[in-house]
This record gives sequence, C-alpha cells and structure tokens, in this order.
Amino acid sequence: MDLRHWKLETDSDNLAWLTFDRAGATTNTFSSEALRELGQVVDHLRAMPPKGLAILSAKENGFAAGADIEEFTKIASAEEAMAFLVLGNEVFDKVEALAFPTVAMVHGFCMGGGTELALACRYRVMDDGPKTRMGLPEVMLGIVPGWGGAKRMPQLIGAAAALDLMLTGRAVDARRAKKLGLVDAVTPRRHFPNAAKKMLLEPPPRHAPGLMAAATNWAGVRNIVASQAQKQVAQRARRDHYPAPYAIIELWRDFGGDVRNVPKDHPASMASLYNHPTTRNLIRIFTLQDRLKALGKEASGEVRHLHVIGAGAMGGDIAAWCALRGITVTLQDLAPERIAPAVKRGADLYRKRLKQKHLVQAAMDRLIPDVAGNGVARADLVIEAIVENAEVKRKVFAQVEPRMKPTAILASNTSSIPLQELAGVLQRPERLVGIHFFNPVAQMQLVEIVQGPQTSEEVMQAAQAFTRQIDKLPLPCKSAPGFLVNRVLSPYLNEAMLMVDEGLPPETIDAAAKDFGMPMGPIELADMVGLDICWAVGQELAKPGSTVPKKLQANVEAKNLGMKSGKGFYTWVKGKPQKTTTGTGSVDLKALADRLVAPALNESVACLREHIVADADLVDVGMIFGTGFAPHRGGPIQTIRARGKAEWLKILEDLKARHGLRFEPDSGWASL
Ligand code: NAI
Repeated sequence: MDLRHWKLETDSDNLAWLTFDRAGATTNTFSSEALRELGQVVDHLRAMPPKGLAILSAKENGFAAGADIEEFTKIASAEEAMAFLVLGNEVFDKVEALAFPTVAMVHGFCMGGGTELALACRYRVMDDGPKTRMGLPEVMLGIVPGWGGAKRMPQLIGAAAALDLMLTGRAVDARRAKKLGLVDAVTPRRHFPNAAKKMLLEPPPRHAPGLMAAATNWAGVRNIVASQAQKQVAQRARRDHYPAPYAIIELWRDFGGDVRNVPKDHPASMASLYNHPTTRNLIRIFTLQDRLKALGKEASGEVRHLHVIGAGAMGGDIAAWCALRGITVTLQDLAPERIAPAVKRGADLYRKRLKQKHLVQAAMDRLIPDVAGNGVARADLVIEAIVENAEVKRKVFAQVEPRMKPTAILASNTSSIPLQELAGVLQRPERLVGIHFFNPVAQMQLVEIVQGPQTSEEVMQAAQAFTRQIDKLPLPCKSAPGFLVNRVLSPYLNEAMLMVDEGLPPETIDAAAKDFGMPMGPIELADMVGLDICWAVGQELAKPGSTVPKKLQANVEAKNLGMKSGKGFYTWVKGKPQKTTTGTGSVDLKALADRLVAPALNESVACLREHIVADADLVDVGMIFGTGFAPHRGGPIQTIRARGKAEWLKILEDLKARHGLRFEPDSGWASL
C-alpha cells in the first residue's frame, strides 16, 4: 500500500498500529485523500485481520481537528459537499464494521471528524493532559456532525448529553468525557502503548449508556427530548439566522443521525445548509479566526513574568487571566486594599475554570500582589492599566521604564489615548505597544494590538505572540482614536441612545438589534459597559456636529452608570436588566435596525479607508470577536456586500435627510 497520510505497522502480538500523520501539515485533518487512504487500510486489514487495531496521531497538537476546512471551502456545489459527506460515512462505517477490537488513542484536540472516527472505533482512550479535548463543533460552522457523529454519539452516551454537546459545539476534557461515557479509559499519553495493548488483547465489554440515557433514544421519548432541545435552541437562535442546530435535532430525531437519509429538499439536508448564507459566513469567520491565531509566529520567546500596573476593573482581570494561563504575574496598585478585590475575583475565576483544588492554589500562587512594584525589574512585559489620563500615565511610564529589563516590552491598555502622546517620555519608544483588552476580560476573545508610529515590528510580533500565549485573538491595529472596535461600536451605541431621547423604549431598540442578529441590544450593552465609559468614549470619538444623548448625560450626572450602579437606562437586579415592555407594538424593527447598523457600517468603511486594520476581513473578524456583531451575517463589511453597497448608501442618504450629517457616507464607499 502506498500511503501518504497514514502509517501502518503490525507488532509481534499481531496488533495493528495505525498512525495518522497528514502529509505537509502540522495538524491532522481529513481531506478526501486522507479518507480514501484510511478506507484502503481498513480494506487491507479486513482481508488480513490482526488481533486488534489501535489508531493514533503522530502530531503533537492532537488526534485530528476534523474535516479539512480548506478543501471544504473549495467545494463548488451542494452535490460535491454531499459526496464528501458520503465518503466519510462509508469509510467510518467500514471502521465500525471491523470484526476485531479497535481503539482510538486520543491526545490533544479531537474535533469533528476526529471524534467521529473515534466514535466508529469500539473503544476510546484519552490522554489526561490539560490540552486534551473532544467535541463535535460543527454547529459553529453552520453544519451538522455528518460523518456519523449525530448517529453514534447519542447511542453511546444518550441523546440528552449528546445533543447538548452537538448543539453547543462545546468540547470536553478527559474527566468529563469519562464521566459521560464518551471514552472508556483515561491515561497519560506516555502510557498509550500499554493501554492500547491491554484494551485490544483483553477487550472489556463495550460501553453502554445507563437505562435513563439509553431511553432518550427510544421512539416515544425521542420526541420529548427533541422538543425540549428545540425549545432551548429557540431561546438562543432563530432558525432563519442559524439553521444548523435545528437541523441537528431533526437529523437525529427523524433520520437516525445519518445525513444520507435526509431528502435533498429537507431543511436539515446538506444541500439546504450548504446553500444557506449563514454556513458560508460562519466558515469564513472560522478561517479568519485561524488567520488571527497564526499571528505572532515570528516572535522569539515567551512571557514568563508579567507585571500589571493598576488593579482596577481591567488591570485586575488582565492579571488574573494571565496567571490562569500559566504566567507569573505581579500586580501593582497604590495600596494593598486596591489589589485585594482583584485577587478575590481571580480566586472566583480559578475555582470556576480549574475546579481542582491544587490547580486553583497554583494559579493563586502565580498572582502576586506587589504594591512596591518590585516585579517591574523581572518582567518580560509590563502592562499599564491605570486611570485613562495621559498625564498620569506618562508619569508612571517615566518612573517605570528605567527599572525594566532592556529586552522587556511596555504596553498600555488605554482605550483612547494615542500611543504617540505617551511615548514622548520614553528612552525606548519603539518598545511601547498598545495591548487593548475588552471587558469582561475572561469572556472576550479579542485583544487589539496597537502599533504607534514608533512601535517596532519586533515588539508588534511579541505582543501578538503574548496574546496567543494567553489564548486570546490578536488584532493588529493602527494607533488612532478608538482603534477598530470602539470606533465602530460607538456610533451604533450613540444612535441607540438618541432613539431613547426621541421617546422609543429601550426594550424596543434592543429588540430591533437582536432581530438583526446582535447577541445583545445596544442599550443593554451600554448599561453593561458602564455609562461613564460610554460617555467618555463618545466624547473622545465625537465628530463635529454630533450630539451627546441627553438621557446618557443625565444618567452620568446622576451617577446612574448602568449595571455596576444598579441603574442606568434599565434597573439592574442580580446582574439582569429589568425590561418592562415586552411587545414592540407597530414599530418597524427592520427600519430601526437599519438606522442602528448603518452608522456602524459607515464607520467600518472609514476604518478601512484609513487602514486602521489591514483589510476588510480583519474589520469583520475584529467586530465579531470584539463585540459579537451578528456572526451569521459575517461582520460589517460582509453585511454591506450581502445587501449591496448601493442599497446601504441609499439608506444612509435617507437617514441623513431625516436626522442630519452624522449619516454622511464616508468617502471610503467610493473605493469599496
Ligand atoms: P479603574 O479605575 O477600574 O482602575 C484603575 C486602577 O489604577 C485603580 O485601581 C487605581 O488605584 C490604579 N492606579 C491609578 N494610578 C495608579 C498609579 N500611579 N500606580 C498604580 N496604580 C494606579 O479603571 P479601568 O476601567 O480598569 O481602566 C484602566 C485602563 O484600561 C484605562 O486606560 C482604560 O481606558 C482602559 N480600558 C478600560 C476598559 C473598561 O471597560 N473599563 C476596557 C478597555 C480598556
């Protein structure tokens, strides 16, 4: 057999060891070629049966990441997409039908098709390392687990647990996988050879779900489970926006989880999903996310010690997050009592994320209060997150820089102050960079990496690499007021607040934005961000002739700052806004959404013209990961493309005629 992507060996016990090692790639993914080769190997083993078969990965990062997305994006028709699905099914069915015991030995990530291959094996063994995860994340790409996952996972662990994993796309670690019955054993990777041998030479009974879990697959119960799942999905996403979760439920309920059984014209079919714009937009965003993940690759060295100055809302959470990701962090503020709340928030975060006591303790040990600022001299990176005041920041910079290692980097978390205004006091201005996190730090994936006129390329690379080190997505931006995300968000929030001044209920405005596909309405978002911050950012980014929303001004003056003070546009109880009106009456939500979104699209065009980020793709991915901008629409620039430039320009002109110059189309539209 001539194999490019797999290596087959047989040992003295007549056990076959099949290693997946996708040629020319650092990650295993299933291309058609890799699938066909696997089919050949299985045919060969069927003809000359070994005592058992272990499937492993040769790649350091994991077992397999799923289908080859690059190949998938090149598929030109629904028929071709279906053919790719049928091929995977045929090969994995053959694996399942092998007469001898088979075991998948899983380390690192095991996603989508990787999990589906593992599910086709008789047994699964999982490494217990912190990076090992198994899941079926297809829903995030707008598709279904189509290589047998939707069939085999519910049978193995029960439909309720399987639907939960398939509908959220969430991946589980080894402990959770074992508890669910997804894997038969958990052991460190170094023990894989022995563990596989034992499994294959003394095969235990196959895992079967408990009675309660098994019952979820029975005909009568199945409908109840499906309708419960549907209700939950409906609370999160509309079918016209996100068809895939609905398709997953129907695929399992009505077609035995096998995509080959779904009629072509059914809404759950591959053809229907393939032709839906959401699928294309989500796949594009996924590949763009990979582009961000690849940034900073040229940097040398890691940040081992981070020093954070300012233990407030942002600095405290940045410090806690970085310690969670394994970095030693010293945290400085003016007095110990200012650092204590940050350490407490850190402890809460670690308990939630790490669960095991010794891991929580280790993370706590890495987060070190440091009023004297002794950490500065040891740090590879110093992040400043003190009050938003250029004078105060310059003072701190002038004191800190001489104490830093010459190779260390100085970063500011400033939201609005151009780096050039801060760099003047520095001996080495080329080592100053903006590392702009979003609030809440633990939840927001995006970090803007801001290049001032003097910031060196090496420092930009290092800052992006640091962002990847702490598992966030870096977005390189030019240093201009608001960078990308706040600049595009600000006119959208402002417009929403001006609508409140006109007498529209906040609930209606929020409903219009959600109807468009935003995860949260702008008024609720403003209250969450903090109205003082919205006001300050609005001032900073205000254009000539723009008006400050009156209700915003009044709220700020009355210290009604939103969620943090219990009252803003909404009254907040236990972290939830109390919405009073439920209906939207006769209001045209679509027209309202146009008026909200048009200024954001206009600002996106302006950012592109000013090269705030390198290209349109980065505007889209930045706004989606920085603000949650309607992912199914693919971001602001894709929203313009989908409806057409001419139509959006007409909307802007009409709005300008009614509401004034703030809707003036940017000159960048001409070259879009
Ligand atoms: P904050 O007011 O919650 O925290 C600032 C902290 O800095 C306070 O604990 C204060 O005691 C401390 N501080 C002030 N002067 C100091 C000094 N000389 N030495 C040591 N500590 C000092 O402010 P927040 O919201 O955390 O903002 C900090 C920075 O982050 C600002 O530049 C802001 O623009 C930026 N930012 C804020 C976001 C937000 O949503 N709050 C989002 C992204 C960036």
